[in-house]
Amino acid sequence: MKAVHVLNGPNLNLLGTREPETYGHATLADIEARLSARCKKRGLALYFRQSNHEGDLVSWVQEAGRAGEPVILNAGAYSHTSIALYDAVKAAKTDIIEVHLSNIHARESFRHRSMISPVARGVILGFGALSYDLALEALLAQADAAAKTGDALA
Ligand code: DQA
Repeated sequence: MKAVHVLNGPNLNLLGTREPETYGHATLADIEARLSARCKKRGLALYFRQSNHEGDLVSWVQEAGRAGEPVILNAGAYSHTSIALYDAVKAAKTDIIEVHLSNIHARESFRHRSMISPVARGVILGFGALSYDLALEALLAQADAAAKTGDALA
């Protein structure tokens, strides 16, 4: 593993001011700074991106898939609606971890279904900004275990 992609969907550029009672006070730049420091320590490149456009997210998932580099994906509201992202994640030959700041199952019923979950390697949700850190730790632990045993799913 040489690089990690963190892809953020619509409205996540507003973190910090958007519904802080649900999403907390950390901004996307705060999250990027933490993940960047952790990746730097491990000698990994970090591609941290946000877009309000579904097609950008599809293209970035494809890009990471072509490179075989893992993805931490918070697709925002597209998580609940996007067949295009379902297809992109399913087709990508890399691990994709779905994250959400909020516990989508404890919210409105239209958030309970995720198009990403059935095709993701794993899902981490409900821990606020920490969900991203936990997803990165999961990828690092998995890479360490695979390096020891040669088994990608160790
Ligand atoms: C979110 C949950 C989604 O339902 C919502 O549309 C978002 C953020 C989260 O991180 O909790 O934009 O993905």
